[in-house]
Amino acid sequence: MKYSEMTKAELEQEYKGVLAQFEACKSKNLKLNMARGKPSKVQLDIANGLLNALQEGEECFVDGVDARNYGELSGLPCAKEYWADILDCKPSQIFVGGTSSLNFMFDIISKAFSHGLLHSVRPWCKEDVVKFLCPSPGYDRHFRVTEFFGAELITVPMTENGPDMDLVEQLVKDPQVKGIWCVPKYSNPDGIIYSEETINRFANLKPAAPDFTIMWDNAYGVHEFEGEYVPFPDILSLCEKAGNPDMVYEFASTSKITFAGAGFSAMATSESNIKYLTKMFGVQMISQDKINQLRHVRFLKDKAHTLEIMKQHASVMGPKFGVVADALDKEIKPLGFAQWNRPKGGYFVSFNAMPGTAKRALDLCKEAGVEMTPAGATYPYGIDPQDSNIRIAPSLPPIPELEQAMDVFCTCVKLAALEKLLAI
Ligand SMILES: Cc1ncc(COP(=O)(O)O)c(C=O)c1O
Repeated sequence: MKYSEMTKAELEQEYKGVLAQFEACKSKNLKLNMARGKPSKVQLDIANGLLNALQEGEECFVDGVDARNYGELSGLPCAKEYWADILDCKPSQIFVGGTSSLNFMFDIISKAFSHGLLHSVRPWCKEDVVKFLCPSPGYDRHFRVTEFFGAELITVPMTENGPDMDLVEQLVKDPQVKGIWCVPKYSNPDGIIYSEETINRFANLKPAAPDFTIMWDNAYGVHEFEGEYVPFPDILSLCEKAGNPDMVYEFASTSKITFAGAGFSAMATSESNIKYLTKMFGVQMISQDKINQLRHVRFLKDKAHTLEIMKQHASVMGPKFGVVADALDKEIKPLGFAQWNRPKGGYFVSFNAMPGTAKRALDLCKEAGVEMTPAGATYPYGIDPQDSNIRIAPSLPPIPELEQAMDVFCTCVKLAALEKLLAI
């Protein structure tokens, strides 16, 4: 029966039962962590071949370049080909990075503030106000990058097709709005794939700021855990066609393909942007780690082989998302007070608790030994105006632990909802 249909007496009865369940959870002295989207050990083991992908005596001279030496700042040609294959763009549009795509994104925003981007009239630090659009719920680390540099963060609601594009089109008419964060495929945390219409509207934006920047973080581009690989439009060519060739910077990494934090990353953008940025990167470093690039290309080979590897990840991730879906369907759905999504890829389930209860629910989880991403983290400045959204990250714990954690989670969201309904 739905909580909204229960009498006060029935709610009180339910509260007693759920409180007893909560006490039982606490007595188990659990210590479980679902706070961040880390791959599990079994997933990391899938990439152990990477450790042997380059052995002593093997040829490190590739494409006319000795990978062990300085040079080729924008990446080994074979690494550019690899990423162009994955992202469906041209190798000349790729700048291969280090082990973290987030670092790459930070770097672009940093350069925008210190020196300006290709079409900037002045560095962003010289602007009176810089505003940045943050589709929410979204990725907390994105928001923190622009907050770190002093940008004003503007929340844009997410819809089932991606960010609310009517609002985005309206907001970009303000010349102080300099950019937007996007996770276009299996968005963090909603797991949404932006619709073709949304993507086209992005490419066709007419921002007032000449240096408006789409930060297109394609972190989960090949990360299906259910069903076949879903092809995705190349935003670079769409922007080019729309007369906005330099507006988008796309990012990706192998953090969730090989080793998290020890993979390799790429930025895809127009050749003009690459040329402009390469000059700046040339001041900052002589060369990226091309040994890492080479061993990754030897191990991952190409898109087809990478998708094979991702099927192995799917066989680990799919059942974990199944545990989450089953627990929520069984424990929460009949009570009718919360909503959540059922993604087919990515790393998260986005759960909307009864408004005003997310913080309390996660405090209760903590009390019962289950650590989750803090409530509010999916909104700019860590403040969810509804106090509702909770990001569930099921990848790290083994299934028996995940089952226990979901048991605690369901108990806690129920308890928090009942406390609110009964004004306890
Ligand atoms: C959307 C998104 N982008 C980037 C990252 C971090 O990527 P990297 O390890 O390449 O810095 C994550 C990690 O969870 C993520 O969810």
